[in-house]
Amino acid sequence: MPSSFLTRETTDRIGILEYLSALHDELRPSREGAVADYIPELTRADPNSFGICVVDVEGRVYEVGDVAEPFTIQSLSKPFTYGLALESRGVEHVLARVGVEPTGDAFNSIVLDQSSSRPYNPMVNAGAIAVTDMIPGLYAADRLQRLLECFRRYVGHENVFVDGLTAASERETGHRNRAIAHLMRASDMMSDQFEDSLDLYFQQCATVVNCRDLAVMAATLANGGVNPLTGIRAVERGYVKNILSVMYTCGMYDSAGEWAYRVGLPAKSGVSGGILAVIPGQGGIGVYSPRIDSHGNSVRGVRVCEALSTEFGLHLFETA
Ligand code: DON
Repeated sequence: MPSSFLTRETTDRIGILEYLSALHDELRPSREGAVADYIPELTRADPNSFGICVVDVEGRVYEVGDVAEPFTIQSLSKPFTYGLALESRGVEHVLARVGVEPTGDAFNSIVLDQSSSRPYNPMVNAGAIAVTDMIPGLYAADRLQRLLECFRRYVGHENVFVDGLTAASERETGHRNRAIAHLMRASDMMSDQFEDSLDLYFQQCATVVNCRDLAVMAATLANGGVNPLTGIRAVERGYVKNILSVMYTCGMYDSAGEWAYRVGLPAKSGVSGGILAVIPGQGGIGVYSPRIDSHGNSVRGVRVCEALSTEFGLHLFETA
């Protein structure tokens, strides 16, 4: 079994659960940031909710706080649909339609690479919408089922569903996403089923998860694509490095550079207030705290990941 930071030395110094509890206590009073309101349904979140969960590749779960509280996955879905598109279409097909360059722009910016007309990367809305367009299936319902089955393999249970009110809210307010989809259709980066694909993207974002699910999803990527709780493969091993690469360079939007510098782990955030981070070969971190910063990243989520990375030397470029 691969050695884990959770078992190797950290438990000698301080129990991981004790550490997570102390960190949770320390950050709990923070009121920094604000719950996202550009999708009205998101404002229903309790701003004070706060959960932290760590799952290692051997299936041990360490959790504190509101780890079972449901919320919509939002952009945290993007790495997983990217993996599904890679499996369904192959790397070259996907790369021809969605690049892998960080933008430095906001997640919802209406911008395509001028020379190739591709969206810059699959972690911003434009790229993610083009990725969702690649999910195969004859009818919209088949495509949604394929997507939900994929998420179920990652979370390791069947209770994965779309929150209809949030999906409707996304649809009603998704004018920028609609504009992006039309722009990409005009440059042939999306198929003629692009309107169905956009609706599928809204449903994808409105899929319900919890903090523990995020940590298990991250641990599955850390474990080469096999869910450490169920032993079920969620994605082919060969694509995990592609997914982690774009998470590392683009997963935290216009603060991806600072994240790489300070935390040094492939990660993804969502406007609902979740962050998931992957410690390759070791485990996954999930944090839920709905108050987000100006980039769209959970304020306490960023703090938790910074603290864990520093305390346990998790930065990928840490040298012994
Ligand atoms: O496309 C949107 O606006 C949302 N459904 C997802 C955005 C999101 O989570 C971006 N995250 N930081």
